[in-house]
Amino acid sequence: MQRENWASRLGFMLAAMGSAVGLGNIWRFSYVAGENGGGAFLILYILSVLVIGIPLLLVEVSIGRKAQRDIVGSYKKLAPKQPWFMVGYLGVASAFLILSFYSVVAGWALYYWWRYVTGAMTEMPDIGFGGSFEAFISQDYAPLFWHALFMGITMFIVLVGVKKGIELANKILMPILALMMIALAIYSVTLPGAGEGLAFLFQPDWSVLDDPSVYIAALGQAFFSLSLGVGTMMTYGSYLTKQHQLPGATVGIGVMDTLFAIISGIVIFPAVFAFGIDPSSGPPLVFITLPEIFYQMNFGGVIGLVFFTALSLAAISSSISLLEVPVAYLMRAANMSRKLASLIVGLVIFASGVTVSLGMGKWSGITLIGDRNILDSMDFLSSNVFLPIGGVTMALFVGWYFSKQEALEASDLTNNPIGGLWYVLVKFIAPFIIAIIFLNSLGIV
Ligand code: TRP
Repeated sequence: MQRENWASRLGFMLAAMGSAVGLGNIWRFSYVAGENGGGAFLILYILSVLVIGIPLLLVEVSIGRKAQRDIVGSYKKLAPKQPWFMVGYLGVASAFLILSFYSVVAGWALYYWWRYVTGAMTEMPDIGFGGSFEAFISQDYAPLFWHALFMGITMFIVLVGVKKGIELANKILMPILALMMIALAIYSVTLPGAGEGLAFLFQPDWSVLDDPSVYIAALGQAFFSLSLGVGTMMTYGSYLTKQHQLPGATVGIGVMDTLFAIISGIVIFPAVFAFGIDPSSGPPLVFITLPEIFYQMNFGGVIGLVFFTALSLAAISSSISLLEVPVAYLMRAANMSRKLASLIVGLVIFASGVTVSLGMGKWSGITLIGDRNILDSMDFLSSNVFLPIGGVTMALFVGWYFSKQEALEASDLTNNPIGGLWYVLVKFIAPFIIAIIFLNSLGIV
């Protein structure tokens, strides 16, 4: 069977940006930045994107395009009879884990979208927006309905084939989301007390750097936000043909994605301080601050509606890229149809997400890693451990398994003056920094 292809380089870029920009930029970025002290975290995050993230994005897409396979297949094809493909399985498992909680959180976003549709959010609940959110996510069934709906939509799109629906939706929605975020940022900085929020985000308190977990958090956030390390970008790259140039595309994706995160910080943190919310409230953070902002604004009901529409769609364009990783794998390895693979994987991930959702209520006493609940544990394990391992292996693969000439050729950097710098980053610097961050977090260096 003929493998699918993107219609154009622009189609690929939109899909890859759609994958990168999602809940990670708004929901995850703001709560992780909030928990890790703000400004100093932001700087580490930006450094991680520039020095490690963007170079590895190019690595990942290049491997996929060269091999024209899913993640496991790519390693098997390029390095036959060698153990590299094991990392492919790790990638498939990580995509699975991430989507399990991603879909639950996206379900929360859909629920909020619905509450703006019905106009319910224009009234302040007796227990406040924070209280009503906590009450919602701790229920047994209601959040599962939204999780099921979100997973259903994701499965449907992947099962039909990514191109038409998603490429088109992204083309329209990304600019809307970007414009809204900018408008909200302008509004947010005019809130009384906004200065404190901006200081939190932009005036680094270097003392937080004494804690090794901040480095891991920044690295994990860079990987998560750029959709790196599980084979998403490899799989998307595998639908590209050789005639398209990669370096410019990957830089564009990385820069866009980072701008989205910074702007969402400018939206969230002034509001966090203006409304007296604790910046380290964890995953619920944006679901409390945003409704507060919209409640204070003129036409907040409409703005909230458009915002949650855009956020839900941004989440969908990311979740399909996560589902595509195991689906592409099964289609090739088990010779399954796209339809069957999407259905099976989607249902299993849905079931795994049920535990995440119950972990916010009935099962909130269950802690898996340290004192983290089920959601936080899955997120921690996948983002801060599996993604960096997946990414470092890709870097080592291109840096050490390929010859220098092959590496430059695969990434369209032959004769490009930045080729040498990229190669050194990929071969030595990125693996070295990631290794140090890991060892440091384990207390070894
Ligand atoms: N980057 C997406 C976001 O920010 C989520 C995502 C999609 C992802 N594909 C991924 C995260 C692969 C890690 C790995 O919302």
